[in-house]
Amino acid sequence: MQHPHAPLIDGYGRLHDNLRVSVTDRCNIRCFYCMPERDVEFVPRAEILTFEEIERFVRIAASLGVRKVRLTGGEPLVRRDLDRLVRRLVQIPGIEDIALTTNGVLLAGQAEALYGAGLRRLNVHLDTLDRERFFQITRRDELGRVLEGLEAARRAGFGPIKINAVAVKGLTEPDIVPLARFGRERGYQIRFIEFMPLDAQGLWDRSRVLLMEDILRILAAEFGPLEPVPDPDPRAPALEYRFPDGNGTVGFIASVSRPFCLNCNRIRLTADGHLRYCLFALEETDVKRLLRGGASDDEIRETIRRTVAAKWIGHEIQQAGFVPPPRPMYAIGG
Ligand code: 5AD
Ligand code: SF4
Repeated sequence: MQHPHAPLIDGYGRLHDNLRVSVTDRCNIRCFYCMPERDVEFVPRAEILTFEEIERFVRIAASLGVRKVRLTGGEPLVRRDLDRLVRRLVQIPGIEDIALTTNGVLLAGQAEALYGAGLRRLNVHLDTLDRERFFQITRRDELGRVLEGLEAARRAGFGPIKINAVAVKGLTEPDIVPLARFGRERGYQIRFIEFMPLDAQGLWDRSRVLLMEDILRILAAEFGPLEPVPDPDPRAPALEYRFPDGNGTVGFIASVSRPFCLNCNRIRLTADGHLRYCLFALEETDVKRLLRGGASDDEIRETIRRTVAAKWIGHEIQQAGFVPPPRPMYAIGG
């Protein structure tokens, strides 16, 4: 057996130091590329990990070399007192960085408390600045509150603030230039995400992916050709491009056209306590059973290590035989 505290390296030599923790599968909006419109089945509350359980898991993961934690959902801000969890996690030895991915709807009311708890980095998910299209995508009329949330986050001191925009062919083309301009003018880092097969209704189709090259073409028609920025961290999934006038950048999470699996450093803990080595994994490990069943830290460490060791080389979205994961996005955690 390996040393119990040896770092998490999988069968392809990838070091895993990045953990995404979903704190709830619930959400206050209904983005079509993630959730069904109605009758969403949520995990019963008793099955959701408590803050104590999450803290213990993160502490154990940190002892295996995990350095970065991102809190996700569903929508993490619908979980009550999230700032209390942040406060606990920032104190864990070894954890260097905590970030949050949110849809921004509840951010205005919580930005100060989260900043006070020690959170510094935020990704806000926003696909359009057009109220009608926002409604069409999310089935809720909440654009105003998201924009207030972004402002409040900036006032609270957050930086960098990133905006994640899922790009869907035949739908969000008109949003590309306004979002890029919005980011440039207000100092938010815009990142376009290629639509991935993670929606709850099986709507995804290759023909609905607005590819990075399509988006670059739309941007070039408005601003002139953008230039790739050499990446200081080759393991970061986003590819950065600079505007020709030198003012600002846009990023791309090109999961479909440029899969970054070979550099993947992530593992994911679902809200109901299952550990996944990939967004698209078809198998997962029930850690909650261990956390609630009196398992020792060493047993949990060994389970994390075994899950990472079994990690596949990567997803096969581009292959004909691709099988989408059994859980949609909201039940995994971005
Ligand atoms: N494809 C790509 N990105 C998605 N997200 C949710 N569903 C999808 C999908 N099907 C993104 C959201 C959110 C993050 C957690 O995942 O934009 O920011
Ligand atoms: Fe909610 Fe995020 Fe899914 Fe949209 S993508 S429905 S904000 S969990």
